[in-house]
Amino acid sequence: MERLSLEEVVAEAREALGSDLLILAHHYQRDEIVEAADCRGDSLELSRKAAASEARWIVFCGVHFMAETAAILAKDGQRVLIPRVDAGCFLAHTVDYPSLVELWRRLGEVMDPDAEVLPVAYVNTTADVKAFVGKKGGACCTSSSAEAVLRWAFSQRYKVLFVPDQYLGRNTARRLGIPEEEIAVWDPRRPPDRMDTFARARLILWRGTCNVHVRFLPEDVRRAREEHPGVRVVVHPECRPEVVELADEVGSTSYIIETVSSSPPGSIWAVGTEERLVARLAKENPDKEIFSLAEVPPFCSYMSLTRPGDLAAVLEGLLEDKAENVVEVPPEIRAPAREALERMLAITRR
Ligand code: 13P
Ligand code: SF4
Repeated sequence: MERLSLEEVVAEAREALGSDLLILAHHYQRDEIVEAADCRGDSLELSRKAAASEARWIVFCGVHFMAETAAILAKDGQRVLIPRVDAGCFLAHTVDYPSLVELWRRLGEVMDPDAEVLPVAYVNTTADVKAFVGKKGGACCTSSSAEAVLRWAFSQRYKVLFVPDQYLGRNTARRLGIPEEEIAVWDPRRPPDRMDTFARARLILWRGTCNVHVRFLPEDVRRAREEHPGVRVVVHPECRPEVVELADEVGSTSYIIETVSSSPPGSIWAVGTEERLVARLAKENPDKEIFSLAEVPPFCSYMSLTRPGDLAAVLEGLLEDKAENVVEVPPEIRAPAREALERMLAITRR
């Protein structure tokens, strides 16, 4: 039997399921996937879309923590499906629940962390890490809400723990004017013998980074400026602070897209984020010169896992009344994780 194309399967699924189906795609997904989706967006926009949706089936094309976030925010009876269950995230893998509990125990040597420290988790984390944060009264954040959430966190407690992206944490701290000497970095693989530094710190950062964004270097910014006079440099806040300092603009994936797309014809942009986004941006803006900031443009291999056949397979399953790759979160984890996410949504609505 001849296989249908993704376009045909999507059309059939839309016809059969109507408003019961919502397909979401992150900006780092392949072009064919983004074109098949009802909405594309950054992590915050997609969380909001998922939370506001009434669709029975939300098919989330992105990485696992994003689909899991949608599942945590889902209403009763809604189900979130992910075309590739193995689509992880380098950053999310740098923190897990037991190592977070261990840090809390070590902080207990020099303070009462429950009373003094408010934890904030980047959404690029697993549900149990979000649940830990929710139970302690903390909140989640995304790249576009990190500043508002950290500001809120410091209005609640004197000390804040930010996991797991040390660069997003440091870049945001700089925007908030927190001095270097008030920041300490916790390396879960090399825990210190003494906790004095953490007793003094106002902001404790987890030593996690994204393998994709860590590839952009200060020399890339210098080279772009030398080779392309008039270039503007826009980067994601998961980049190294030395790179962010040298850039003209910094922001989430949607911020990058909007900033570049709304610039005048003839603008030249060097972009410091995942390559599929950069290549699509260049294709969609032929009146501008747009290229990766890196000499060898980095792809997110987890985001690249989802191919048209994977999305088609999940939709074909729904057409046959078989929900495949449903993202499940146990209720005891889901409830506190949801609290942390809802705090973020409430902070960013203000
Ligand atoms: P955004 O929230 O900016 O889309 O970022 C998600 C991400 O994983 C970046 O690497
Ligand atoms: Fe995770 Fe980095 Fe990929 Fe974003 S680009 S999904 S942070 S590994």
